[in-house]
Amino acid sequence: MAGNQFGKLFSVTTFGESHGAAIGGVIDGCPAGILLDLNAIQADLDRRKPGQSAIVTQRKEPDEVAFYSGLFEGKTTGTPIGFAIHNTNQKSHDYSHIKDSYRPSHADYVYDQKYGFRDYRGGGRSSARETASRVVAGAIAKQFLSGITFNAFVSSVGPIRLEKPYQELDFSESEKNPVRCPDPDKAKEMEAYIRQIRKEGDTVGGIISCAIQNLPVGLGEPAFDKLHAELGKAMLSINAVKGFEYGSGFAGSELKGSQHNDPFNEDGSTKSNRSGGVQGGISNGMDIYFNVAFKPVATVMQAQDTINSKGEKVVMEGKGRHDPCVVPRAVPIVEAMAALVIADYELIRRTNKL
Ligand SMILES: Cc1cc2nc3c(=O)[nH]c(=O)nc-3n(C[C@H](O)[C@H](O)[C@H](O)COP(=O)(O)O)c2cc1C
Repeated sequence: MAGNQFGKLFSVTTFGESHGAAIGGVIDGCPAGILLDLNAIQADLDRRKPGQSAIVTQRKEPDEVAFYSGLFEGKTTGTPIGFAIHNTNQKSHDYSHIKDSYRPSHADYVYDQKYGFRDYRGGGRSSARETASRVVAGAIAKQFLSGITFNAFVSSVGPIRLEKPYQELDFSESEKNPVRCPDPDKAKEMEAYIRQIRKEGDTVGGIISCAIQNLPVGLGEPAFDKLHAELGKAMLSINAVKGFEYGSGFAGSELKGSQHNDPFNEDGSTKSNRSGGVQGGISNGMDIYFNVAFKPVATVMQAQDTINSKGEKVVMEGKGRHDPCVVPRAVPIVEAMAALVIADYELIRRTNKL
């Protein structure tokens, strides 16, 4: 299996499966001398962990990270940072019903066809459990980038949308409700909707929006490695993601150029920011903001027609402990992937000119 590494200079390689002994990773290229706040890393993991509220999966896993290398006297040494999170709550019998059958809209069928063998317990490597390792690496990237801020939040759940632009939101409100929506009234509506959908044995999708602020000019490589292209790849590599748009996004295509252009101020900043902080693939110092669309969780607690590995029709009903909606837990994953991209491009930026 290729493709377990992300990033060029600041990179992370992740390992592990849902029901193996542990998941974890190796971060390479993190500069030496960063005084790491381990509590802040654990706090981001706690924002992702299962069982944190009544509207997420009720699997209980502490998700405590242990570091094995790359740190001395609290600081990064510049050597590879190795870390692991032990899997403590595997209930393999919850998954025996999918051993020979393919769950609709999961990775079961394609893994079987591609590798001829699959770890069916909890989806194995295709499980979103892998994203806990990304959160650890992203939390370290955030600390390397101190000063640059990453604020992701839930902006829609099913049909319930937060219409306010991010500039009018108080990001500190997001963590005060289980949905992670910074508008308390909308958060209540979203929470009620998730509870109702769960009672129906169903699931629902949603959108996470993110603002990256206090960026320098010059992040991004102009041809294939444009900053927004890398952000898009980072977000689309998260489980269950179906869409990515930044700046004016799809709505911008309805405007005329005269309406869409961002006029300059004398200091090089722009009066509007429909470009979303990126021009020609390079950051221009304005905020980067983007939306990430997540599909409804594939495992529904209802009977569904599917096939088994012999190609026979079978009926399958969702079992085990699943998220009715992934967006509340995916907020720290979006921030982590954004921080990994910016950390990598910040190191590359430092090689750009004398
Ligand atoms: C934080 C998070 C939690 C998830 N939890 C579940 C879950 O409990 N049950 C489930 O069926 N899928 C869950 N998913 C989605 C699956 O991992 C994903 O849909 C599946 O691996 C197939 O990949 P794809 O949807 O990207 O094609 C979760 C995704 C994320 C980001």
